[in-house]
Amino acid sequence: MRSPDPLEASLAFCPICAKALNAPAVCRTHLTTRSPRLFLREWINRPGRVGAVWPSSKRLAQCMAAQTPMSGTGLVIELGGGTGAITQALLAQGLSRERLRVVERSPAFVRHLRQRFPSVQVIQGDAARLAALLPEQAAIDVVVSSLPLRSLPRAEALAIVEQWRRVLPAGGALLQFSYALQAPADWLGAGFALRDSQLIWRNLPPARVMRFERLATPGH
Ligand SMILES: C[S@@+](CC[C@H](N)C(=O)[O-])C[C@H]1O[C@@H](n2cnc3c(N)ncnc32)[C@H](O)[C@@H]1O
Repeated sequence: MRSPDPLEASLAFCPICAKALNAPAVCRTHLTTRSPRLFLREWINRPGRVGAVWPSSKRLAQCMAAQTPMSGTGLVIELGGGTGAITQALLAQGLSRERLRVVERSPAFVRHLRQRFPSVQVIQGDAARLAALLPEQAAIDVVVSSLPLRSLPRAEALAIVEQWRRVLPAGGALLQFSYALQAPADWLGAGFALRDSQLIWRNLPPARVMRFERLATPGH
């Protein structure tokens, strides 16, 4: 029988620093520390779906959070939470936990996110079915996406973008970063206008953060 991964097992002590714990299995400091290891393991298993070998840098995460409008009262939906780099930055920027929903497809990342942010609602599911994962009639202000749209199967990426058109009202904001530095979003199609674009060099690899506004379009 395979012996359990000490980082996944439920222990009374953090397996890294041996600090005594009530719950969960790893203390909060080392949940953060082990993020790159888990990320790399997930990337090895599913490179196209994870889309990066390393979690976003603090600089990239801070830029995504700084570009996220926080003044509304509706939900802020983070897509592709991974190990929580952007979740952490959104909370540090002042977003209330009650307004945040994190959608993540990978069960290992979902477990990690729920341990790291116990009071944030983390939804396990596919962003291509976003509307079905959210409460009916929920008011949504912002979608913050770090989904690897360029490395996902084309049909899946198109289905995800279609969900954004469906859930975001006119005036709503969409944040997306991309490792394609030169080309702002040929994948987005109609219904969105680019409002801001910033290059972040301090990331592996460097990335472009883009903020779009959802436009009012007939039929949507
Ligand atoms: C580039 S990683 C970003 C992770 C993290 N937000 C960060 O910036 O470090 C992309 C994430 O999207 C998740 N993902 C990919 N396809 C997805 C889908 N269809 N629905 C939900 N999550 C998805 C992956 O599991 C991965 O966690």
